[in-house]
Amino acid sequence: MVAASGIAPPRAAAPCPRTRGGFRSGFLRLAPPLPPPQLRCCASTVDDGVVSAAASKPRLLRVVGMGSKLVGCGSATPTLSISNDDLSKIVETSDEWIAARTGIRNRRVLSGDETLRGLSIQAAQRALEMAQVKADDVDLVLLCTSTPDDLFGGAAQVLTEVGCTNAFGFDITAACSGFIVGLITATRFIKGGGLRNVLVVGADALSKFVDWTDRGTCILFGDAAGAVLVQACSADEDGLLGFCVQSDGNGQKYLNAATLNDESILANTNGGPGFPPKKATYSCIQMNGKEVFRFAVRCVPQSIEKALEEAGLPASSIDWLLLHQANQRIIDAAASRLDIPSDKVISNLANYGNTSAASIPLALDEAVRSGKVKTGDIIAASGFGAGLTWGSAIVKWG
Ligand code: ACO
Repeated sequence: MVAASGIAPPRAAAPCPRTRGGFRSGFLRLAPPLPPPQLRCCASTVDDGVVSAAASKPRLLRVVGMGSKLVGCGSATPTLSISNDDLSKIVETSDEWIAARTGIRNRRVLSGDETLRGLSIQAAQRALEMAQVKADDVDLVLLCTSTPDDLFGGAAQVLTEVGCTNAFGFDITAACSGFIVGLITATRFIKGGGLRNVLVVGADALSKFVDWTDRGTCILFGDAAGAVLVQACSADEDGLLGFCVQSDGNGQKYLNAATLNDESILANTNGGPGFPPKKATYSCIQMNGKEVFRFAVRCVPQSIEKALEEAGLPASSIDWLLLHQANQRIIDAAASRLDIPSDKVISNLANYGNTSAASIPLALDEAVRSGKVKTGDIIAASGFGAGLTWGSAIVKWG
């Protein structure tokens, strides 16, 4: 069913999973943690094509964690700051228009030798430092990004450069919901797989996929990385309390950076029709802002309500509302729907714009380091964006 807006509403037939047998979310539901841990981490290094056996000694089996908690965070942003006035020199816009419609005033953009990998490494190192966890005690690194430096993913390089010699890692692609999906994945590997320390990095460089002549999109995005360390703990310390994740491909037409086929490559071959395949590139970000806005305002509060229900908590228990930083009007509308006062809303998009998978951990890191978010505070976090995907997590800090 497609709503008047053109985006199918969340399907009533597929509600968010409910608590069953100690698992608070059905997302990535695994078998109950009765037997000893199922996952073994084997560190290995490859040098000149030879897998080093010395470094690949299986690790000791871990104890299956009954809970998981957030024990550290970190972030990193590029040095180049682009203001609304700077943008008004390249497209027909103004600081007034951008600030009034979005709340954004500046954004950071990768320049010179900076890379997304570099930002991810810095954010991860800062999270480990705050958590006081050594890099070689990390079991898993999840790099949540839609814009890796390498099409095949960047988690392995990040974990190697951070020194997580005993970890394995992989990328998660879910656009602006990526960090929430990463957080949920981390808890499942801890609760069901017996891992102890999982580093979740949200990082994106959408500036590389923006059409800087399109004033409808180029004003919105910035680059950044943020990270959290999720750690196994006892059930009574559990800090990841309730989740909800949803997706709807019907809305992909409203927000995408789809593949394009490069005709020129085929022209240089003697291949028959249809072969060899044309080289693919990606289009710049295409967005119907109004439809994405409507989707977010409608689906985000519902998603938070479902995650709260799963956590068994009322909206009044939320100390901080931390939404994906896309547009201040979306944040305000969600806060108002949930009846959350503005002094409980975390917002830093004025300084960074929409940094996709990085926006939630970046804002969390600033709020923790400034002393705003304190140990034991309940945070309702929600991500939404391309896919379309959206998801919420109710978490306790520390
Ligand atoms: N400066 C000045 N004028 C502009 C600009 C600009 N930067 N952009 C658009 N306009 C003009 C339009 O041309 C239009 O002019 P017209 O009336 O003469 O035709 C007018 O302003 C209104 O344009 P709209 O697109 O209708 O503006 P709207 O109020 O919808 O705001 C915006 C646009 C800010 C993009 C808003 O729709 C929005 O924030 N949408 C949500 C975006 C979002 O959250 N994306 C998440 C992406 S996350 C991910 O997964 C990547």
